[in-house]
Amino acid sequence: MDVYEAVTSRRAVRGFTDRQVPRETLERVLSAAAWSPSGSNIQPWHAYVLTGAPLAELKKRVRERLAVGDPWDEPEYEQYPPALKSPYHERQSAFGAQRYGALGISHDDLAARQRAASANWECFGAPAALFCYIDRDMGSPQWADVGMYLQTVMLLLRAEGLHSCPQMAWAKFHTNVAEVLSPPAELILFCGMSIGFEDVTVDYARTGRAPLDETVVFVD
Ligand SMILES: Cc1cc2nc3c(=O)[nH]c(=O)nc-3n(C[C@H](O)[C@H](O)[C@H](O)COP(=O)(O)O)c2cc1C
Repeated sequence: MDVYEAVTSRRAVRGFTDRQVPRETLERVLSAAAWSPSGSNIQPWHAYVLTGAPLAELKKRVRERLAVGDPWDEPEYEQYPPALKSPYHERQSAFGAQRYGALGISHDDLAARQRAASANWECFGAPAALFCYIDRDMGSPQWADVGMYLQTVMLLLRAEGLHSCPQMAWAKFHTNVAEVLSPPAELILFCGMSIGFEDVTVDYARTGRAPLDETVVFVD
């Protein structure tokens, strides 16, 4: 698979089969992803890969909290600015309409949206998940480094015939993730990532992108 195909075939997959992901494949992907760039090569990512019983335990703990209506954990970072201005707000709304529209859920049906969103914490059925942490001391440039690392992981997963879904949703239950992973206290959970083989029977809407001239300026 060439790089263009890896980039264009990667998408946030929200339905996986229970086919296991071989440990060697994950090691190959994560070894290659370690070549991602970072400012001064400080490599600020801390990845934990969870499969099998520990992943099942994590899903169970969150499921139990959801069942009793426990509130989410106190956020350790802001996922979006408090008021998302134009054009970001419109893009976010369009994404929500597409995502829930594909599931036949209307804009006003909050309960159905919440039910659909709760599939995040089942990893959409995926048998493997990566949890990516960053040191609390790090600033925006290092968070950007972590983003590059995660995209590299996702593209390499495509090369292995695998799919993924990056998930900030896991930050809403960072205490449960920490119970299972016991990360050092100085780390913040940025996101999880479900990893597995796509369940091709699950409907989805392919997201679009802004036209090139909305996001790129060529200065000749
Ligand atoms: C940092 C990050 C966090 C995300 N968190 C979630 C999430 O919690 N749940 C989810 O279903 N999708 C999540 N996504 C997926 C985005 O919704 C998706 O990437 C975006 O809509 C573009 O669609 P595509 O990836 O399918 O091209 C996240 C993506 C990124 C990059």
